[in-house]
Amino acid sequence: MRILTPGSLQLSLKLTVVLGSLWMVFLLSFPEKGWDPTYILRYSWLEYTDADGGPEKVCNCSAILRGEREALEQAKLLTITKDFHKSVQIPDEYYINATQDCSQFKLSRKYIPFPLSQEEEDFPLAYSIVVHKKVQNFERLLRAIYAPQNIYCVHVDKKSEASVFFAIWAITSCFENVFMVSQAVNVVYAAWPRVQADLNCMADLYNASTKWKYFINLCGQDFPLKTNLEIVRKLRSLKGANSLESETMAGEKKWRVSNVHQIVDGEIKGIGKAKEPPPFNLPILSGNAYIVVNRGYIRSVLEDNRVLALIEWAKDTYSPDEFLWATIQRIPGVPGSRWPNHKYDMTDMNAIARLVKWQWHEGSQGSLEAVYPECRGTHVRAICVYGAGDLQWILEQQHLFANKFDIDTDPIAVYCLEKYFRQKALAELL
Ligand SMILES: *[C@@H]1O[C@H](CO)[C@@H](O)[C@H](O)[C@H]1NC(C)=O
Ligand SMILES: *[C@@H]1O[C@H](CO)[C@@H](O)[C@H](O)[C@H]1NC(C)=O
Ligand SMILES: *[C@@H]1O[C@H](CO)[C@@H](O)[C@H](O)[C@H]1NC(C)=O
Repeated sequence: MRILTPGSLQLSLKLTVVLGSLWMVFLLSFPEKGWDPTYILRYSWLEYTDADGGPEKVCNCSAILRGEREALEQAKLLTITKDFHKSVQIPDEYYINATQDCSQFKLSRKYIPFPLSQEEEDFPLAYSIVVHKKVQNFERLLRAIYAPQNIYCVHVDKKSEASVFFAIWAITSCFENVFMVSQAVNVVYAAWPRVQADLNCMADLYNASTKWKYFINLCGQDFPLKTNLEIVRKLRSLKGANSLESETMAGEKKWRVSNVHQIVDGEIKGIGKAKEPPPFNLPILSGNAYIVVNRGYIRSVLEDNRVLALIEWAKDTYSPDEFLWATIQRIPGVPGSRWPNHKYDMTDMNAIARLVKWQWHEGSQGSLEAVYPECRGTHVRAICVYGAGDLQWILEQQHLFANKFDIDTDPIAVYCLEKYFRQKALAELL
């Protein structure tokens, strides 16, 4: 048994009032941090039960995850029911109030309070999360990826509604290892500030702790497809390599980097002027905004002169998030990078960073032209917002995270993933 710190004693006393003396024995031997094999005996209170589920609990998730038709039809029916959608909504003010008592909030939401294994404690991760609305999406994502040994930087768009900002700020205030970015920017679709938001979090995370091994960036509509332990094991198996899309840029995308762009009235526009070639004649590669990279890659982003010159050069291009990380990944000497020869290209399906279903790559199952089966949810800007019917296929993929999920579109998809991964994380303890 370890010695209680003042913080954990205060926590214990508060909880005792809430839960009664039954918990006292448990709490007195329960330090805030550090892994101990005896936790295995005491984890059952962390299971998600129907009692703390929302209206989604009427669904049979195990049947949904197996793709059983009846269960999927019932789920689909619910997702098109107005009353059901209404019942799932949570106003921003709820979070502001509920987080006034942080220990009660974390306890009732069953945030993981200690590292679930020595292996995970020894391999902390750093997350950058960029959001602009939909607080419930954010909170459920945070809860799904939260572990006390990890560190989380949250960037809320500067132009977000005040209630969104305060709700997210209030949630982050409940955790020592979750913080708001030191400098928030006004994010403009397909323009430089989207990258700047991640860059600001990268700098904060790099400075805040020297311990973390890998960096992962997310947006509010991502959700994990692995437990923290599975993520750690996948990353360890990379042996220092990064995993992100980085491919030869298609001819029809080259205008994005060969013309000068500017933000005019909150929108990005070409100004009819050609750009200089990139610094050091760096080959520009194509990728996406979401990456899984080691600490050394982040150090290069913040300190390598070639990267700093590339960043300056990229500031007036179109959609720099879709080539900058991919290009840095192919600069020789960047830790975990790949040689710039096109034979070393990596597609989004081969990288583990993010699973996205693009509408034009969907097709019927078994069709050779199709990259993936048809979306069972709905499309937003040609990207699938997953429905419950997508889960069975999604869970077979190697990616750490998938995009997009939206509780306003299909809360059941998120609910069933939440339950599945919490159960799995606790089962891994045995
Ligand atoms: C849910 O589905 C599973 C798998 O088909 C089935 O075994 C189980 O009995 C179902 N549970 C309920 C409560 O209907
Ligand atoms: C505010 O939160 C407390 C618990 O933290 C709860 O008892 C109370 O009912 C909440 N008030 C509102 C208006 O939601
Ligand atoms: C890191 O944090 C320290 C302490 O807050 C601060 O003084 C320093 O300027 C920061 N360094 C960077 C590179 O942000």
